[in-house]
Amino acid sequence: MIQIKDNVFLLKNSNISYMFRATGSGNLEHLHFGAPVDIDDVDAFAVRYGAGWGSTGGPEGEEFPMYLPLEWSSLGRGDYRESPLEIDREIPAAFKYSFCRKFDHTVSMDCSLPQAHGDAETLEIVMSSPSKLSLHLFYTIFDTAITRRVVLHNETGRSINVEKIMSSMMDIQGDYEITTYNGAWIAEMQPYRAPVGMSGIVNESTTGFSSALHNPGFILNEPGATETDGVVMGFNLIYSGNHYSRIQKSNEGLVRIVQGISPVSFDWILGNGEKFETPEAVMVWSGTGFGGMSLAMHRFVNENIIPGYWKGRQRPVLYNDWEGCMFNFNESKLISLAKKAKELGCELFVLDDGWFGDRNSDKAGLGDYDVNRKKLPGGLSGLQAKLSGLGLDFGLWFEPEAVNPDSKLYRAHPDWAIQAEDGVTVLGRNELLLDLSRPEVRDYIVNNVSRCIEEGKVSYVKWDMNRHSTALGASAHRYILGLYDVLKRVFGPRPEVLLESCSSGGNRFDLGMLCFSPQIWASDNTDAIERCRIQYQLSYLYPLSTIGAHVSAAPHSQTLRDTPLSTRGNISFFGLLGYEFDLDDLTPVEKDEIKNQILFYKQYRDIFQFGDFRRLKAPEGISMQVSDGDVHIVGLFHELVHAAPGYERIYPRGLKRETVYNVLSRKQLLNAAKFGGLLRFVLPVKLKPDGPLVRAAGKQYRMKDAERECDATGAALMSGMTLNARFMGTGYDPGMRMQGDFSSNIYVITAEGT
Ligand code: GLA
Repeated sequence: MIQIKDNVFLLKNSNISYMFRATGSGNLEHLHFGAPVDIDDVDAFAVRYGAGWGSTGGPEGEEFPMYLPLEWSSLGRGDYRESPLEIDREIPAAFKYSFCRKFDHTVSMDCSLPQAHGDAETLEIVMSSPSKLSLHLFYTIFDTAITRRVVLHNETGRSINVEKIMSSMMDIQGDYEITTYNGAWIAEMQPYRAPVGMSGIVNESTTGFSSALHNPGFILNEPGATETDGVVMGFNLIYSGNHYSRIQKSNEGLVRIVQGISPVSFDWILGNGEKFETPEAVMVWSGTGFGGMSLAMHRFVNENIIPGYWKGRQRPVLYNDWEGCMFNFNESKLISLAKKAKELGCELFVLDDGWFGDRNSDKAGLGDYDVNRKKLPGGLSGLQAKLSGLGLDFGLWFEPEAVNPDSKLYRAHPDWAIQAEDGVTVLGRNELLLDLSRPEVRDYIVNNVSRCIEEGKVSYVKWDMNRHSTALGASAHRYILGLYDVLKRVFGPRPEVLLESCSSGGNRFDLGMLCFSPQIWASDNTDAIERCRIQYQLSYLYPLSTIGAHVSAAPHSQTLRDTPLSTRGNISFFGLLGYEFDLDDLTPVEKDEIKNQILFYKQYRDIFQFGDFRRLKAPEGISMQVSDGDVHIVGLFHELVHAAPGYERIYPRGLKRETVYNVLSRKQLLNAAKFGGLLRFVLPVKLKPDGPLVRAAGKQYRMKDAERECDATGAALMSGMTLNARFMGTGYDPGMRMQGDFSSNIYVITAEGT
């Protein structure tokens, strides 16, 4: 709902209110972002002017912008804080409130930037300046979030140079801590928390893309906020390019938050009569801690960001050949893998890199789309027909934005690649980016990717991008607009094709890509324990339905960690389950275990992918919960176990206090060979630890692990359900948690009578 009264503007839904007003001098004074309030509450929030402000101030007869909590600030009018707009100095850019418009829907942009969609109301605030520049501030209120963006219109009679333009700016009161998510390739989403002080904190990416270095999403919380209590705000940007946010507290205790495109490498000539549209910034507010904030973000992404066709639509369990085969495969190997994937319960077979051109390593072929007939004699359609015969859908990998210098495309069009300005070729993963700001390059990509999708009746595309670049320079934003144009043209006519975006893993995990790709490959770090932490951190801002998380081989190629298969599966459930290793290596018991994992995931797929997500108290390790109505699933994940562990509990939330629930552990098996010489404590017979019997037993036989069933009220369970004891060398009991390092369990909690 949007209300307007006496130049006071209120955006309100059942969870949040956002209020500001136009002052008599035409400034926009920020009043409130928080719990729902009424428009007549304005008096409680409006700033009272004080004598303590001294004689420094704004233009005559106006308030002192320097001390006002603002919604937008104009340069050269006495506000020395971060400015959201920088243009040529000679153009006066002092904006004053002019008029507003209200829409009972979202308002579409004219450029190719993606936007949030769905039921919403929009408020457009028009601010004008004597130089005939005008600013249009768009505020859209959805069920769970508010978005903001800005459009700058140039009617000055000349071109102007825009050096910086933010999507949103606001000054809020209070003490906050900020959490940003930083990292690198195979080390995504490392949280950094710091108090917001008078030295500003900048969260910015300048790699040309949103990047794993600094995810565009960040969080502000009141000190002391927990998962369930306290004020927590989530912010993000619907954009995949260079981004910038700065958060800084003023002497008066006003926290200025700006969000938008990074001004680094941004330089936009705006002709007379033209307008510039910024990406949408997203904000959610929660009075119920980090958990409430995440729930709001998850709902917003699932409802208002993900493409409509995939809203609430279950994602397939897939097999991807990359980690099993890399570039080394042929059709018969793929079919052998596909048969096993099908037996296990997979629904989709994804052929990753290496199917086209001279692509036998990452040194050649990128940019070409001719199928490698040595590997695939029947082409894409031949492979697809065979997969379809097995009952599997076909998915295909592309990296359309890049080119290897050793490719037919580069030899034909070397000028299509973006090079450093000094002409020195700098390769990243042996590749260069194509210049997506050029229409002929975009046409080439759209035509070739579309043709391959049609030829192979492809139902899933993995859209990779492994080259970041600062050589994009001032054209970085044009590149991103070009990328969105390409994605719109390829996938707009094919909404049912499931797009998974990827950028050397989670190097472009952002809301811009999610507007096209319902899911994103979380990380090339497929070590389950490492990726569990990445998934856990992603969960603050992104729902599980967006997080590609596959089971990979153990020992793992990047860590040599030998994580139990049960844990590898349990972790992938809290994301989008897939398998990515050579299935020809599986032992019979591993096959059974995987079949059970897939059956379990399918049974609860809706809950894992779209249920309410919670991070739980876990004195040791990580614990997460997904819930839908009367069914709640809790995962408990350990890293290193300790001797004399004491008693351990799980702490589910969101249960009905009076209702009686049944708790049942997911059936998982334990490799007997793990026990080595300890087997003599576990089995009645004496066996040699490295003898053939133990090794054979490891392949053919597994022991029941950590079985648990219990009936109790929601009230009792939420107080903490005591788990079975851990193995301490004192004999085998199927109820005991015989687990060791990197162990985990899943508990399904179902209301009785469900
Ligand atoms: C990137 C991706 C991987 C895989 C390879 C293929 O690294 O992140 O998942 O697709 O490219 O070259």
